[in-house]
Amino acid sequence: MIGEIIEREAVNPYFNKPTVLAYLPEDNDDINSQALYVSKVRPVGRICDGKRRDVDIPPKPGSNVYSAAVPEIRLALALGDQGADIGTLKAQPDVKVLLPLDVLFRTHLCVLGRTGSGKSFFVKGLIDRISRQGPQTIILTPSDEYDDLAFRLGYEVYGEPRICLPFTPTYIAMTYGLTYAEQIVLESFMKDQESEIGEGAHSSRQIAASLRSWLGRGKEKITRLTPVQGSFSADVESDAASLRKIPPRGSVETRVDTILSKVGSKDLWFSAHPMRVPFETSTVLNLSRLSAASQEAVTAYVLGNLLESKRRERGADVFLVLEEAHMFAPSVQTTACKEKIVQLAREGRKLGVSLCLISQRPRHLDQTALSQCGSIFIFNLPHPDDVEHTFGVSPVYSSELIEAVRRLGVGECLIVGDVVKYPVVCRVDFREAS
Ligand SMILES: Nc1ncnc2c1ncn2[C@@H]1O[C@H](COP(=O)(O)OP(=O)(O)OP(=O)(O)O)[C@@H](O)[C@H]1O
Ligand SMILES: [Mg+2]
Repeated sequence: MIGEIIEREAVNPYFNKPTVLAYLPEDNDDINSQALYVSKVRPVGRICDGKRRDVDIPPKPGSNVYSAAVPEIRLALALGDQGADIGTLKAQPDVKVLLPLDVLFRTHLCVLGRTGSGKSFFVKGLIDRISRQGPQTIILTPSDEYDDLAFRLGYEVYGEPRICLPFTPTYIAMTYGLTYAEQIVLESFMKDQESEIGEGAHSSRQIAASLRSWLGRGKEKITRLTPVQGSFSADVESDAASLRKIPPRGSVETRVDTILSKVGSKDLWFSAHPMRVPFETSTVLNLSRLSAASQEAVTAYVLGNLLESKRRERGADVFLVLEEAHMFAPSVQTTACKEKIVQLAREGRKLGVSLCLISQRPRHLDQTALSQCGSIFIFNLPHPDDVEHTFGVSPVYSSELIEAVRRLGVGECLIVGDVVKYPVVCRVDFREAS
């Protein structure tokens, strides 16, 4: 029978009586030889005729405990010998942990842990390992920490100002949450300014400045505006029919003022030739120069494109890494991109998209997205709330595992879920070549 030592204690019956201590020297070999090591062992499996079997009957109390050989440990934990080499077992540095790629990318995964616990280090190492044999990797990150990896692996990097959204009234209205009437004003402005605006990329500040000068120039011309047929998005279009008959109330100036204040909330770039992330090659989207609200808008656009292109044509499989996922899909509030993330968590698997959600605070991460993750990598999580929340969505729940998570050091993680048959505690190490 193979088991994991949970607790180890040294006892010596001589020292049951405190008086013994007064009469005997401390370093007495006869007495020391009576010491007994008592180990509390959790059975993991038993090996019978070279095959792994489950433990039906626990071992007898008092049974002897010996060190297991590496092949036996591998067999008992059902650790495969194929896949991405991510390190070794924390308790047994001779036993390598290899993640089978077909199982890993069959569902989604999440990587959780406090700041500095080793999440990004692990994901970068994993991407490196799978770069030649795994799916295409798309990384959405609010920092520039993946740029080095992208450079080394020859991935495309999109950063400001290459991150351009579609320069259409519908898209701008959706991004800034403009009302129907405000969209009509914006549309008229864009139609009027078509020749002056030109083909290139426009920042939201430039759009705001042109809008101000447009208002100053042609007040009388723009006081009565009517929507252009067929120019609205599907959801706006649905109630547009009734709204069309009602001319926009209030003055255009007031609407322009509200548009300007809304447009000022996010610094973004728009272009008639917006960014098209090529989902068939690995790419990093570095959102570090954008405000949080702008990062959400860009994420919503990219994920919307991904869903659209995958529904149209499945194409190559995609490994979509989302850093700081609790910011983009928080548990309570809503964000511009939360719906798309939840949609991908629900439908992505069938479309060949495997999500990798990275978060410091699983408690603050959307429960639906988290619950769709088949494999969970938990680094040190000191907050009991986070640990309970995480195990709440995991099929494996035990107080020993919670305790193991609290004791993890930097670069150590507990792996549960599909990718391992039994929970294992791993020391992440990418120094050796796989
Ligand atoms: N397995 C490891 N082996 C060696 N060093 C590691 C390991 N994991 C993490 N480190 C070290 O710890 C540092 C912090 O790790 P990392 O950037 O992965 O933290 P994080 O969990 O992503 O934190 P944050 O949530 O703040 O982004 C790394 O820069 C690296 O130096
Ligand atoms: Mg990180």
